Amino acid sequence: MHSSIATALLTVASSVLAQDFSNDGNYGSPFPDTTYPGFESTNPYAIAGSLSNQTSPPKYPSPWGEGLGEWASAYSKARAFVSQLTLEEKVNLTTGTGWELDRCVGQTGSIPRLAFRALCLQDSPVGVRDTDFNSVFPAGVNVAATWDRGVAYARGQAMGYEHKGKGVDVQLGPVAGPLGRTPEGGRNWEGFSPDPVLTGVMFAETIKGTQSAGVMTSAKHYIAYEQEHFRLVPDSVNYGFNITASDSANFDDVTMHELYLWPFADGVKAGCTSVMCSYNQVNNSQACQNSYTLNYLLKGELGFQGYVMSDWLGTNSGVASVLAGLDMTMPGDSNAYDSGDSYFGANLTVAVLNGTVPAWRLDDMAMRIMAGFYFVETNITRDPINFSSWTRDTFSYEHYFVGEGWTQVNNHVNVRSDHANLIRSIGARSTVLLKNVNNTLPLTGNEPLTAVFGDDAGPNSNGPNGCPDRGCDDGTLGMAWGSGSAELPYLVTPDTAIQNTVLAAGGAYESVLSNGALDKMGSLARRANVSIVFANADSGEWFVQVDRNLGDRNNLTLWQGADEAIAMVAGSCSNTILVVHSVGPVLLEKYASNPNITAILWAGVPGQESGNSIADVLYGHVNPGAKLPFTIGANRTDYGTDVLYTPNGDVPQIDFREGVFIDYRAFDSHNSTPTYEFGFGLSYTTFNYSNLQITKLDAGDYVPFTGYTSEAPTYGNFSTDPAAHLFPANFSRVPLYQYPWLNSTNLTEASSDPQYAAPGSFPVNAQNGSAQRIPKAGGAPGGNPMLYDVLYRVQATITNTGSVAGEEVPQLYISRGGPHDPIRELRGFERLSLQPNGSTTFSVDVTRRDVSSWDPVEQDWVVRNTTKRVWVGRSSRKMELEGVLA
Ligand SMILES: *[C@@H]1O[C@H](CO)[C@@H](O)[C@H](O)[C@H]1NC(C)=O
Ligand SMILES: *[C@@H]1O[C@H](CO)[C@@H](O)[C@H](O)[C@H]1NC(C)=O
Ligand SMILES: *[C@@H]1O[C@H](CO)[C@@H](O)[C@H](O)[C@H]1NC(C)=O
Ligand SMILES: *[C@@H]1O[C@H](CO)[C@@H](O)[C@H](O)[C@H]1NC(C)=O
Ligand SMILES: *[C@@H]1O[C@H](CO)[C@@H](O)[C@H](O)[C@H]1NC(C)=O
Ligand SMILES: *[C@@H]1O[C@H](CO)[C@@H](O)[C@H](O)[C@H]1NC(C)=O
Ligand SMILES: *[C@@H]1O[C@H](CO)[C@@H](O)[C@H](O)[C@H]1NC(C)=O
Ligand SMILES: *[C@@H]1O[C@H](CO)[C@@H](O)[C@H](O)[C@H]1NC(C)=O
Ligand SMILES: *[C@@H]1O[C@H](CO)[C@@H](O)[C@H](O)[C@H]1NC(C)=O
Repeated sequence: MHSSIATALLTVASSVLAQDFSNDGNYGSPFPDTTYPGFESTNPYAIAGSLSNQTSPPKYPSPWGEGLGEWASAYSKARAFVSQLTLEEKVNLTTGTGWELDRCVGQTGSIPRLAFRALCLQDSPVGVRDTDFNSVFPAGVNVAATWDRGVAYARGQAMGYEHKGKGVDVQLGPVAGPLGRTPEGGRNWEGFSPDPVLTGVMFAETIKGTQSAGVMTSAKHYIAYEQEHFRLVPDSVNYGFNITASDSANFDDVTMHELYLWPFADGVKAGCTSVMCSYNQVNNSQACQNSYTLNYLLKGELGFQGYVMSDWLGTNSGVASVLAGLDMTMPGDSNAYDSGDSYFGANLTVAVLNGTVPAWRLDDMAMRIMAGFYFVETNITRDPINFSSWTRDTFSYEHYFVGEGWTQVNNHVNVRSDHANLIRSIGARSTVLLKNVNNTLPLTGNEPLTAVFGDDAGPNSNGPNGCPDRGCDDGTLGMAWGSGSAELPYLVTPDTAIQNTVLAAGGAYESVLSNGALDKMGSLARRANVSIVFANADSGEWFVQVDRNLGDRNNLTLWQGADEAIAMVAGSCSNTILVVHSVGPVLLEKYASNPNITAILWAGVPGQESGNSIADVLYGHVNPGAKLPFTIGANRTDYGTDVLYTPNGDVPQIDFREGVFIDYRAFDSHNSTPTYEFGFGLSYTTFNYSNLQITKLDAGDYVPFTGYTSEAPTYGNFSTDPAAHLFPANFSRVPLYQYPWLNSTNLTEASSDPQYAAPGSFPVNAQNGSAQRIPKAGGAPGGNPMLYDVLYRVQATITNTGSVAGEEVPQLYISRGGPHDPIRELRGFERLSLQPNGSTTFSVDVTRRDVSSWDPVEQDWVVRNTTKRVWVGRSSRKMELEGVLA
């Protein structure tokens, strides 16, 4: 009944079943703890607040949306719409119909009475997943490497148009969790950078860009989803790990605010329409039913007006999740795909009828979803969904998993437009030049013999989409693996693009694309005028394992036998250029100091135009201006944080004892010298920094927010008689599908929930719809608006002192000056374009938030009475100008 794609998906899943990783021991990390000895934060809050088995405080009721800030008009439209809805229609908006039971990776119920078709939720953060004639964009980590707000916006918008063109309502992205606590983390590349400010800016610009195309975003994964190992129990058991609940990220309120929550505040301020809660637990409470992170932080303090959706199978309960702030469950099934039952659906209808979920709470769920809809769209009449995620065939089943409804499911709509140019340009503008001895680069194109080496320069022998979900490392790394991938329309390899360039210039070109062919590499390298060797390191989501990497990387070294290939080529040719495609940091120390390696480029995960992008940089059509969005350390242990690879209990406990000291904050506080520091990147020209100016602006004093919400509003009414909520007569059901109607007038029977939850068994205030005090740090989307007041303007003059046009990213760092604060923290940056001898002003508005610290007792941000230094530098280690904010 199922076509080959579903079979392929099932095969991937069952190949996992066959493997036992449980006895591998702690092969990944040299220490059992995820914070290495000596890397603990000195902040007593961080230590006291990162204990195994600690709990998360209850915070109820779940705040109702009120149309704050820019949301007023979306709320008034949503109010008009939701007021017309029946109980079942509201429930339909909140519940996915089930895995592979409709066309999109997630699809809600519909409201046929009002001609409101189902909402289509679709991966991924690099392009429309599981379809054809879409583009594949550079990964988030590349966007971060551009340090260019315009790039983030333009890419978001282009991806938004592609989703729109397929009939998608919600693009499942962008990513700010994982943030990148550990460089090995499998999905870091889907997001941006371990720096919260760089991530926050790119996250917000992507959200604005995507939503400008009339597509909702799902800002994910909320929160502290920093590793793949042990995120879900069934996956863990499949790999042979005996755990009973998802891992718990244990950390304190200061680290939460100053690091992990920071970019989500930017996302909420930018108007993200939904937030996806993550698989992990936070302080031993599931992220999708954690009242502290959802009710108190996200909807309370950050004033989030949109809706919270679960990650796929990330819902762990019905009533408890709803009261803790979950608004939509995806893909609808509870516990297992196609289980045929749901925590929401009929269960939610029952829970409202039996009074455990107050009517105002369901109304708030429906309101938040429809307000998100109206925030980006004007008309409930939309083009139909014109593709099916489950097959590329033109005809197949509408309800794929159960083989019902044969019809045309794919219209093969080409949504690529001219996005290839943007993709090629972002690929080049995100390539970081790390080493360039004596102007080795750019190449002139007049080299008599150019030689290219490495598996990473060539194609996947099974085609660009040869491995489902890109779950292999075969050929060049254009994209990493997991649900954050998409089908490539083509993949321009470095081999093809460099050959085209060399041949056009009349040169000779040879390549050896197998790292196993070391002898052939050596003999070619000895003859070549320039040798370009490609290497990579991959990672992804842990439903696929590649070479025994369960999503997270087991090491920080190169893959595909690239180290041996590099040794051979560099040992044979004194003009060797190394190009690295990788998901994050890789250890390059020995290459940085090798005299035969004359240039090193980091090209990230660049998408479909990979080869053209790197050729543009190698031959100087694009002058590199990118900077590292993470630290490349000399040793794995220098990072001080690592993945937990072996469970340390039935419920793995990951204690974030380093607090905010991840990536460069850890390197700085340990005074350890990285190979290439955060923010580092060279150019084909040179830049001078001068004339620091600091202007204090009169923003006035901070006033903690005071005030109350309205009482919880309700919209429309419904019959409390269960008989009014039965399935309509003669209704033809799709098997395994989630519906909002009841099977029986006996509510207990209709719910068939074995765990009877008595009315008194709910947390205090969970059902309280009276006016609530708004947190001091709250009051508007993104938090208290006064946090964004500009306190200082810092300016400097940047001059291009070389002979070619180029781009530079000056960076502003501050020290907050407290005894437990990082030595420096990024607070501003701008990508500037400068002609030779050209000068321009770099200007950063330093906000109150930028100089504030989170006070866990006050539960508010405070500006401490400390000396606050400020630097403008070309990287996190190369400070050119220094001053004091006074
Ligand atoms: C955490 O709880 C588990 C299960 O109750 C227990 O085995 C373990 O010793 C506890 N760990 C700590 C550090 O208290
Ligand atoms: C709920 O959605 C399903 C699937 O789209 C649809 O068949 C059903 O009619 C909807 N129910 C209501 C009450 O609108
Ligand atoms: C898994 O752990 C539980 C509780 O620690 C234990 O009862 C069970 O026997 C274990 N199962 C396997 C397959 O080891
Ligand atoms: C309601 O949820 C419970 C699990 O909490 C499940 O056992 C039951 O089958 C669900 N009922 C429906 C109608 O989906
Ligand atoms: C919504 O779209 C439909 C179909 O294109 C059109 O007939 C209708 O006028 C539109 N309504 C509004 C309010 O724009
Ligand atoms: C760079 O060029 C200078 C001047 O030509 C030369 O002295 C030096 O050896 C060169 N360095 C390397 C590493 O090739
Ligand atoms: C690191 O992992 C990759 C991928 O599994 C593997 O190819 C490589 O050999 C490993 N490196 C070392 C030094 O073991
Ligand atoms: C550099 O390359 C030359 C060949 O051009 C080789 O003889 C020499 O051993 C290489 N040096 C290193 C350090 O590999
Ligand atoms: C109400 O319904 C929900 C959902 O089916 C169920 O979990 C809960 O136990 C019920 N509570 C009461 C008091 O009937």
